[in-house]
Amino acid sequence: MIPFIRPRRNRVSPAIRDLVRENSLSVTDLVMPLFVIAGEQQKTEVSSMPGVFRYSLDLLIAECQELYDLGIRAIVLFPALDESKKDKLATESANLEGLYHRSLTQIKQAVPGLCIITDVAMDPYSSDGHDGLVSDEGLILNDETLEILCTQAVSQAKAGADIIAPSDMMDGRVGAIRLALDEAGFPDVGIMAYTAKYASAYYGPFREALDSKPKKGDKKTYQMDPANVNEAIRELELDLAEGADIVMVKPGMPYLDVVRALSESSSVPVAVYNVSGEYAMLKAAAHMGWLDYRKAVEEAMICFKRAGAKIILTYHAKELAQWMQEEN
Ligand code: PBG
Repeated sequence: MIPFIRPRRNRVSPAIRDLVRENSLSVTDLVMPLFVIAGEQQKTEVSSMPGVFRYSLDLLIAECQELYDLGIRAIVLFPALDESKKDKLATESANLEGLYHRSLTQIKQAVPGLCIITDVAMDPYSSDGHDGLVSDEGLILNDETLEILCTQAVSQAKAGADIIAPSDMMDGRVGAIRLALDEAGFPDVGIMAYTAKYASAYYGPFREALDSKPKKGDKKTYQMDPANVNEAIRELELDLAEGADIVMVKPGMPYLDVVRALSESSSVPVAVYNVSGEYAMLKAAAHMGWLDYRKAVEEAMICFKRAGAKIILTYHAKELAQWMQEEN
């Protein structure tokens, strides 16, 4: 039998492959996560994330300018705070004079075209290392946490945040934050909800970067069970009803089915967070000479697009932007 239908005809040349390609990656799809630390002229590498640094604010501003010049239009910022700044109520999370809020204001001033996405959750500021308020019995107090998150979100909007990204997974937080922002006079500040955020081992390097791992227990009473996908749709329905402008799946690579599921049902753009542990895996394999780093990273990105993500939060963002610039 000689086949007369030959799918390979559409793969014959680079020009034809370019012509029939179903998905593409643009630098404007990328969001670069960044870590800020106190001090001046500080740049410390996260040991489990080679090539990723915590920057003091002066260097961070220069880094933001560099990212912007490379075409990156959005960052998401996390603070790495000294243990002395942490307490049970995450008080520092709403301190307009604190490191995080000063960073927002100064980045906005220095690079006004850059969209600043802020993280809303208690963990970088919490002496318990949890995203929510912990009771004396060790339980996470959902509704009490909402008040703290709302105060945090409004303070970030005041400092210059463009989009608020609650990563805490408390019930009802998107609606509560939406209401708080509107009441405070920030109707145009958007919400990117961590809609399907799983209780994942892949966050290990991030917790090293912020020194933010839970002092006791785990995050399984609020982050989702990796075994579930229908539950992600339930979270999606709630986040949409509560006013989310963008919904997110996290982690990325092992959760492409969840990205697909959400993208099929979502009326707002879907983002995916290619998390710290995914970055660490590729870096480690590349370091060992076990795979072609650039090809593996580019493949991961196009797979996110194929699965239905519009927006990709990734520690590879700067490298990708540099590679794209080299090509032009
Ligand atoms: C916590 C938060 C985490 C990440 C972003 N926000 C970790 C966690 O839930 O413990 C992980 C990001 C990454 O691993 O890159 N609010």
